[in-house]
Amino acid sequence: MLRAFIAGVACAAAVFSARDRRRGAHESRGARADDARGAAPAASTTRTGQALYDSAKAVDEYVTFHYSARSTIAGALRTFPYEDMVREGVDVRSALGFVEACARVVVEAMEARLASSAAAGTMTSALDVGCAVGGTSAALAKHGRFTRVVGVDYSRAFVDAAKRAQSGAFDARDGYEADADALSRCVFERGDACALREDIGTFDAVIAANLLCRLPDPEAFLRACVNITNVGGALVLASPYSWLEEWTPRDRWLDFPAVRAILEPAFVLERECDLPFIIREHARKFQLGVSHVAVFRRV
Ligand SMILES: C[S@@+](CC[C@H](N)C(=O)[O-])C[C@H]1O[C@@H](n2cnc3c(N)ncnc32)[C@H](O)[C@@H]1O
Repeated sequence: MLRAFIAGVACAAAVFSARDRRRGAHESRGARADDARGAAPAASTTRTGQALYDSAKAVDEYVTFHYSARSTIAGALRTFPYEDMVREGVDVRSALGFVEACARVVVEAMEARLASSAAAGTMTSALDVGCAVGGTSAALAKHGRFTRVVGVDYSRAFVDAAKRAQSGAFDARDGYEADADALSRCVFERGDACALREDIGTFDAVIAANLLCRLPDPEAFLRACVNITNVGGALVLASPYSWLEEWTPRDRWLDFPAVRAILEPAFVLERECDLPFIIREHARKFQLGVSHVAVFRRV
């Protein structure tokens, strides 16, 4: 298995999207940081790093990450050393579709269950914890079999952006391809993964993509997953295990064996894989990461 890593990639990008040409790479149409101030969920446990996700810059990066048309990013990445990365075993091209790839892993994990006659016709629900601006939730809703998709994020600015995506704010005119129809079938709310509201319910699939190493208490979240995942359901954890003290006290950092030990015996590990992702910080700077993905089955 590849070791997860994060690399800042300065890319001499000659291709700018139409949107960048019109408004400049750093300017954000997203929620203003001022809008991000508001009542925190009752039991906030996040540390100072979380403020970053309430900034307009972060909203802009994640709207681009989740909804940009692939050609926009792929064009800007034409000087990227794909072949070197592929030689090292990472298909960087697939990083352009990270949120869809995450949803696909969830769907594949559910497929056997969906196909079984016992489960056919039953409601299939999914929870996307740390959903950011909603791309993975949308990709799950698009699948059609998930009749209830809930996205939860601590950042008010991200949840606001997810709701704007639902009303068609990120469409083709600006180089985005958010699926407003799929998004309209999702519910987005603010919440704290380390202290989820007690009546959030239970789900057939729970995904936490690139969330663990942004939590102040990842173990509390993992323990909560036992209660919110239906028996037979899937828990999908994607993480680059990129721990920083800004987010998580050092004594709470977990490696994958520790994550697995916390989840067993309530879950069994079914599958592991790697998924690369690219976040564009601005027109000439891209952050490349490779998340380790683990699929657990609730038993
Ligand atoms: C690295 S981003 C990943 C976002 C998204 N899942 C993805 O794959 O692109 C981490 C996300 O977790 C959210 N987050 C951080 N702490 C959280 C908490 N305590 N509860 C819920 N969400 C949190 C952040 O606001 C941010 O949206």
